[in-house]
Amino acid sequence: MNAEEMKKAVAKEALKFIEDEMVVGLGTGSTTAYFIRYLGKLIMEGELEEVYGIPTSHQARLLAIESGVPVVSLDEVDAIDIAVDGADEVDPHLNLIKGRGGALTMEKVIEYRAGTFLVLVDESKLVESLGQRVPVPIEVIPPAWRAIAEELEVFNAEAELRMAEKKDGPVITDNGNFILDARFHRIDDPLDLEIELNTIPGVVENGIFADIADIVLVGTKEGVKRLER
Ligand code: 5RP
Repeated sequence: MNAEEMKKAVAKEALKFIEDEMVVGLGTGSTTAYFIRYLGKLIMEGELEEVYGIPTSHQARLLAIESGVPVVSLDEVDAIDIAVDGADEVDPHLNLIKGRGGALTMEKVIEYRAGTFLVLVDESKLVESLGQRVPVPIEVIPPAWRAIAEELEVFNAEAELRMAEKKDGPVITDNGNFILDARFHRIDDPLDLEIELNTIPGVVENGIFADIADIVLVGTKEGVKRLER
């Protein structure tokens, strides 16, 4: 299996967790995009009834509408049964780094509240400790970006303002903010760092998701493996 086939395999496996009448958090990124498309197909074919999706981003919302998944917003529901999303890194305790797609804030808002948080990755995302492959994205309000980037030096981190590729200037998130990508030399305690980063004034949210993933489906060459906390 190549990386794309692994993404499709975990997205198909995730459908087994979805039942009639569920409210499903819809993640952002290329792996979850397969899941949203497959989910829409089951709904359109009448295999699943009364299933509603809560998107974590404009990307997820547009794709859900295009795929036939009825969309609701967080303030319209009493509870979220399950949230399904990708990740950029997964450590052996199932702590995550997320936010390559810049949707980390709404992802965390929804995934934190879901009855089950199901994560879909291919095996390249598994790391021994967080921060090995990717920096930690931090969403910040625009006027504070430089002050926060300097403050991150206290944490022994180098932060870079994320620049847009098809627009001049910085990436603007779905919430109208900037993203700093922070490289930490070591992340010994992800939960501690996650909490501490959020105490810096001007930080909206950061991409460490410690202790919230329940199940991780990993696409490997041999098939889909299930990791559980
Ligand atoms: C977006 C995310 C994505 O879930 C994460 O980047 C994984 O994406 P992909 O499935 O494309 O590798 O956190 O903010």
